[in-house]
This record gives sequence, C-alpha cells and structure tokens, in this order.
Amino acid sequence: MWKKIFGKTGQSNNDNGTALLEQIDRNSLPRHIAIIMDGNGRWANGKGMVRSVGHTAGVKALKRTLKAAIALDLEAMTVYAFSTENWKRPPTEVDFLMKLFSDYLEKELAEMDEDNVCIKFIGRVNELSPGLQKQIRDAEQRTADNTGVRFTVAVNYGGQDEMVRAVQSLARDVKAGSLEPENIDSKLLESRLDTSDLPPVDLVIRTSGDMRLSNFLIWQTAYAEFWFTDTNWPDFGKEQLAEALLDFSKRDRRFGGLNEKK
Ligand code: IPE
Ligand code: IPE
Ligand code: MG
Repeated sequence: MWKKIFGKTGQSNNDNGTALLEQIDRNSLPRHIAIIMDGNGRWANGKGMVRSVGHTAGVKALKRTLKAAIALDLEAMTVYAFSTENWKRPPTEVDFLMKLFSDYLEKELAEMDEDNVCIKFIGRVNELSPGLQKQIRDAEQRTADNTGVRFTVAVNYGGQDEMVRAVQSLARDVKAGSLEPENIDSKLLESRLDTSDLPPVDLVIRTSGDMRLSNFLIWQTAYAEFWFTDTNWPDFGKEQLAEALLDFSKRDRRFGGLNEKK
C-alpha cells in the first residue's frame, strides 16, 4: 500500500522511507506537523554554490514532503518559509525568495488543487508585493473548499508578531465596549491567531542541526513534540519525514497529566 502511494511521489531509488512508513501505526500519526525548513544556504555553500541554489532546491524538497503528507493523509502541515526577521538578509536574497514564492504558486497551484490540498498563508501577508498578495488570495480562494491536507505557509510570519496582532484585536474590542478583560481566556486569544482554524501543533521538525524555534508558532507549539535532524532542508524528503513520524509515534505525551498505563 505504502509502496503504491509513495512509489510515484518520493525521492527516486530510495525505498527506505516506504519501509519505515510501513512500521508506523496510522493511529499514532500527528494531526498537525510544523516544519522549519532550514539549511538551504549551508546546503548550497557546502557544494560550492550560491545560497539561491539552495533555496531553489528547497522548493523541490517542499514538493516532495507535501506529496508524502498527502499520501499519508495528514490533516495539517505548516511550513516556515520566511520569518519577520528574514528581512535582515541582503535585498538580493530577499528578492530571490519572493520571486521563488511567486513561481512556486504559479507552477504548483494546479497540482495542489488536484491533490485536494487546501492552501493558506499566515503572517503579515499584507506587507508583501501586490502581485504576490494577489497570487496568495487566488490560491487560497481556489483551494478553499478542498478537504485534503491543510497546507499552511508562513511568510513574513513571526510568532511574537502574531501574538501582538491578536492582543491588538482583543484590545480593540475592549475599547469598543464589546469585550470585558475578564472574559479574555486562552480560547478567545487563540481565536484571534492566524492559525485559529488549525489544531495545535503535534510535531515540530527542524532541519540542518539548529535546535530553536526562531519565532515560529510559539503559542501553538506549547505541547508539541520536537524532532531535529542534521539533514539540510534540500535533502529532506519521504525518508526523513518517515523517521520523524516513526519517532513521534513512540513518544509518551502527557500534557501535564499522568500516563494511565504507568
Ligand atoms: C532556510 O534556509 C530558508 C529561509 C530561511 C528562507 P536558510 O536560508 O536559513 O539557510 P541557512 O540556515 O543559512 O543555511
Ligand atoms: C527560520 O530560519 C526561518 C525559516 C526557516 C523561514 P532562520 O535561518 O531564519 O533562523 P535562524 O536565524 O537560524 O534562527
Ligand atoms: Mg537558516
């Protein structure tokens, strides 16, 4: 079964991922995985190439990984594509990345739609170029009724910025007299986050060896499991995803309580 699904979509000549996936109990899959796609620059530099080559290769890794998520019928996958801090990079790199996002949507949207993927963007999308904003809106509208993987792309996203915007929205209601401060609870705050319609993150995957959140989904990961790999993002694919999911399936999640079996 896995072979059939993954044969077409995974990395070529590599069936380790399929074998690993066969070991995973489908009932222990995460509902929501969040991926920090890191290490594009290091991957390219390691091969004596410029950073942009790594970003281009990173898009291929994203395509592979999304295909694997579709085959697994995961409920939600959120990826970190550009942080609110990434504007600190040289303008040439920022421009390259923005063009890459635009090309990605242009080339991949039809297939994602065919694959029943529902795509959404989170972050300060309104600060992106008008052209990219339009592509984003079109992609969201076109796939809004799709019932497959909920694929969320964080662009110009920062967890702290998201929280500030949520608090501002609550403060506006308090000022308008429609909300009492005492009635603010975590559920209400959550409803003002960009991810209000998504389940909490079960598993965070970060590639390329760094072990930090870098301002990604700081609220939503409160009880997430973390999985780190030294593999750079452009080398990520079905096999690494399978490893992460297999590891996740063995974790003992207690959410502050006690595991009844012990
Ligand atoms: C991740 O790769 C992609 C983005 C942050 C846009 P990097 O560009 O951060 O690559 P490294 O971490 O410098 O190797
Ligand atoms: C996090 O990676 C952001 C994305 C993957 C888009 P960074 O490369 O920006 O993170 P730091 O600077 O190493 O923390
Ligand atoms: Mg990085």
